[in-house]
Amino acid sequence: MKTRCSFCDDHAIYVLKSRKIRLCKKHFIDYVRTEVENTIYRFEMLKNVKKLLIAVSGGKDSVTMLHILHQVCKELNIEMLGLVIDTGIGEFSRRQVDVAITLFKMFKIDYRVESFSSYGIDILRPDLERKVRRPPCSICGIAKRYIMNKVAIEENCQAIATGHNMIDIAQYAIANILTGNVEYLRKLLPKTEEGPKMARRIRPLYFIDEKETKLYVETLRLPYVSETCPLAHKRDTMQDTVRMFVRELEDKHPGSIRHFVEKLSNKIINMLPMEEDRYSTCKICGMPSKGEICSFCKIRMALRE
Ligand code: AMP
Ligand code: FES
Ligand code: ZN
Ligand code: ZN
Repeated sequence: MKTRCSFCDDHAIYVLKSRKIRLCKKHFIDYVRTEVENTIYRFEMLKNVKKLLIAVSGGKDSVTMLHILHQVCKELNIEMLGLVIDTGIGEFSRRQVDVAITLFKMFKIDYRVESFSSYGIDILRPDLERKVRRPPCSICGIAKRYIMNKVAIEENCQAIATGHNMIDIAQYAIANILTGNVEYLRKLLPKTEEGPKMARRIRPLYFIDEKETKLYVETLRLPYVSETCPLAHKRDTMQDTVRMFVRELEDKHPGSIRHFVEKLSNKIINMLPMEEDRYSTCKICGMPSKGEICSFCKIRMALRE
């Protein structure tokens, strides 16, 4: 016998165990949208934003975010600009760019495609790790964040939206606690403040489980890239272990990770001393930097040597 939705007669496709409710297609989609909208309003993510840069990798998370934000921005009369970064990882990156462009066209959103290659970064270079002394995923992360901010500044976007979900946030937070990098926790807020040449970063999927974004794109039959990055095996293995732990905890104790990110976004972060965010200007590229030369320029210099 089919299980019924807690709100109507249709059959349920999702059980929200933490709230003990079952949801049909319609009520599941409504639930995800409402959660995301509440997060946006609660943290004033779009306050004073006239133009929003939305970073779309084509994965389930950023596709869900795009689908919801495109509606929200329309209602609030906020201009949107799509961004997809071609990281140059063969067929995987080509699929990401294709899917993102298909969606930007579908939602009639202007977009930019940026490539690592035009910044002199070849993530598949055999001597990459030796020259830069960082694993490829770390280089990729620094380069993506730099490019996102650069595009936002060039295009007069006041904020950048990324599709980090609740499991990503909990994983980064717990890994940083384990390694003692507690000052990094401030970077995991749902919204980070803007500064000179630095756009605000917002994470509208802060309270959404990765299982929910998968079901969201599949229910609405939105195109998305289901493959994981082929370089994922080179990732920090501790991060993978922490992720498995986070997943298991949420599955065995529904709502526990949501509770954790909730506490992280207010209580835990407020207990940390204020970090002096003393940014100066990178003497090579002129973008914000903690040291004389920013991490992105350091990577590019190491690759040129
Ligand atoms: P990840 O670090 O791969 O989990 O990605 C987190 C978020 O960063 C995604 O949800 C996107 O919003 C953004 N992002 C990651 N990769 C790309 C990319 N290649 N192009 C544009 N945005 C990206
Ligand atoms: Fe950048 Fe995997 S997506 S290394
Ligand atoms: Zn229903
Ligand atoms: Zn620089």
